[in-house]
Formats: sequence, structure tokens, C-alpha cells
Amino acid sequence: MNLAGQIEQYLPQHLLKLVQDISGQAVKLEQRVYLVGGAVRDLLLGYPNFDLDLVVEGNAVKLAQQVAETSQAKLLVHHRFGTAKLRYENFTLDLATARKETYARPGALPAVTPGTLKDDLIRRDFSINAMAISLAPNDYGELVDPYQGKNDLEHHLIRILHPGSFTDDATRILRGVRYEQRFGFEFEAQTARLLKRDIPMLDTISGDRIRHELELIFREKRPELAANRLGDLGALHRINPSLKGDGWIAEKFDKARRLKKPSQLPSLYFCLLIYSFSEKKIEQLLVRLNIPAKLSRAMRDTLRLKTSLPLLDKSSLKPSEIYYLLREYEPLAIQANAIASDSSMARRHLQLFFAKLRYVKTSLDGEELKRLGISAGPQMGKILQVLHKAKLDGEVRTRADEKQLVLSLSLRPER
Ligand code: CTP
Repeated sequence: MNLAGQIEQYLPQHLLKLVQDISGQAVKLEQRVYLVGGAVRDLLLGYPNFDLDLVVEGNAVKLAQQVAETSQAKLLVHHRFGTAKLRYENFTLDLATARKETYARPGALPAVTPGTLKDDLIRRDFSINAMAISLAPNDYGELVDPYQGKNDLEHHLIRILHPGSFTDDATRILRGVRYEQRFGFEFEAQTARLLKRDIPMLDTISGDRIRHELELIFREKRPELAANRLGDLGALHRINPSLKGDGWIAEKFDKARRLKKPSQLPSLYFCLLIYSFSEKKIEQLLVRLNIPAKLSRAMRDTLRLKTSLPLLDKSSLKPSEIYYLLREYEPLAIQANAIASDSSMARRHLQLFFAKLRYVKTSLDGEELKRLGISAGPQMGKILQVLHKAKLDGEVRTRADEKQLVLSLSLRPER
């Protein structure tokens, strides 16, 4: 089957020209270049995906070095894996030497040796991701589909390529569910059986790799679908016994999407995912997923704040009181609670802090107070705090109001 026409329609002109140019340079090095993986799958499905992965029969690093010399691209090389990244102004292109992989033990990173395109395709996760399109001039556009990926796409099936696939790399359990839910596909019968059997193999996967796969799920349009499904399959429980993917999560994820930019959603989803945890249980998960320090702080703060929410559940609170209750918490923890709390009063106060109070600043600062005759030290600290509270509570509005308040405070004898 030849897809030359579809490639021309599908790829934006600049990308098309670039991959053709790369393929032309490859010929001179007696190499062959193929488009592989997700971009081929999505081209057949008619979905845009310009995250292009190229496989090179030959030496991808050498080819990428040559391409970088003749273009504006920045080059990043991984000699150990025979891969290279070309970074252009608005996009990147991945080139990998076709390779064979062997797994020394389940969950380990594979040992890599150069191989053919077919070797490179069989090492992949699912048949729908194991197709290639030739970009070589002599058979440009030819689909290479040794594992019937196109047929599986047409039948909406997710199929592993060999029975040991999930044992070799149990991240495929998470990846498979992500594709199943993204495309509304089903697992082929044997794949479904092996996936369930191999859920315990998730224990062989490092925290960083599991976290990375969860982040990929969190970049989906509706990650709650995969979270639910992983909950039903017992995969979340295997990662951590307190993790759940239920209707509550679905509702809160949906709410989160209406508040946050897509790039910031994964961290917020992490905070919501652990909302039902006790403060003690969270530590286990932070270690299991090797969560980075900043996100760990936000997740811990989410639970710490949750236990303090009754303090915010009062209608009589002044803005300054809300501010001083919340100022120590990570902004993400505030947002997570604003989404997840059952109390509408607490939610309103959290939103007020998040959208407004945390940005309130006085017009006068320490330097200006000095000019008004107040010397640096504890008294100045106190005056600035009173001024800030007054500003939060709307008792002073203008610079002149602030000056007047400062002067009245500085004349007042210290107690
Ligand atoms: N892959 C794999 N096993 C993994 C990770 C990746 O076999 N554990 C292969 C798949 O063939 C996949 C390709 O590497 O298609 C690229 O991986 P990735 O960029 O994560 O996925 P995409 O194919 O680009 O698909 P998407 O981003 O839509 O998930």
C-alpha cells in the first residue's frame, strides 16, 4: 500500500520538505529513513500528529550530524542508544538508528544493538504503533506493516506483539489503557488476558517511569477515563493501595480543566488524585513515584490544607484573615482544595485568595517608610503588616490613605 498522497496532504509543507531532504541526504550515506510509530498510526486515522519519529537503517547519529550542519537545527545526541534530536525553532524531530532490544530482566531498560527496520518494529508496544512509512526515494510512501497494525486499527484493536510484552515492560499496561481510552478501542482478547495477568509486573518499573506514564495520561483530553479503567483493572491499586480512579475523580478532573491551562494540568491532577489519602499514606506514594520536590510540597500541602478547611468555613472571615490562613500553602494546593472541597464557603474563600488576595501589595515599601522617618527594625515590620492587612480589608485604598495610616501608626507609642 502506498501512502505518498496521504503524506503530502497530511504534513505541513515545511515538515514534508524537511523529511524529504533528510531522506535525500540519507541516500548519499547509503541509509534509509522511515517515518514510524504514532505519526503513522495517526496519519492512517486522520488525526494530526506532527511529533515525527524517524527510524534510520544505518546510523541516525551520523545522518543527524550531517543534517544539522546544513540547517538551522540544534543537535542533541545519545550515542549509547544511537539516537539524535534535531531541534528547530518551532518543533523537534527524533531520529533513531533501527535497533534490536533485549531485556535482561523484567522492567529493566533494554540492551540495544543495531538492527533492521523489522527488528525495530517488533520491539514496540502495540501493533498499531509498529508501522512505518518509507521515505526513501525508490519506494517513497510504502507502508511497512509486518504485524498487521493497519488491520488492528480498522478493527479498533490494541494488540501486543508477543506474549512477553507486558513482562518485558509493564509501562505498556499504562500505555495500552491510554490508547484504549483515547481512541475508544478494545484490547484484543489475548492482550487483555495477559495485561490482567501481568499487573503485578508494575512492581518492576521504576518510580520515574511510572510517573512519566501517568503524566502522559494526564496530558490526554480526558485522563479520568484511563484513571477509571486503571482503577478497575487493579493497576492503580498495584502502584499504591490508596490510589483510586472513580466517579469523584472524574468530576474533579473535569472541573480542573475549566480552570487551568493544559500545560499546568498534570500537577493539579496529581494533587486531586491523592485527595482521599491520609497525610501518612501520601509519603509512600511520593517515594514510589519519586515525585520531584516542588510537586511533593504541593501534594503534601493539599492534604494539610484539607485538614484545615473547617477554619475557612465561616462567613465572617475578613480577607486579611483568609490571607494569613492560606499564605503558607503552595498555590496548587489552594487550587486543588478549591476544586475538591465539599464546603461552598471554603471554596469561595480559596478562590478569593487564589484569584485576588495573594496579589495584593501595599503601595508603600520599606524604603518609603524610611523616608517617612521610620527606621528599619521590628517596628517597621509591624507597620508594614498592619498596612498590608488594612489594604487587604479595603480600609486603605490610595497611596495617600497608606501614608496617613503609616504616620498615625508611627506616632502611636509602642506598647
Ligand atoms: N514505544 C514502545 N514502548 C514504550 C514506549 C514507546 O514501543 N514503552 C514505541 C511505540 O512504537 C511508540 C513510539 O515508541 O509509537 C514512540 O513513543 P511515544 O512518543 O511515547 O508515543 P507516540 O507513538 O508518539 O504516541 P502518542 O504520543 O500519541 O502516545
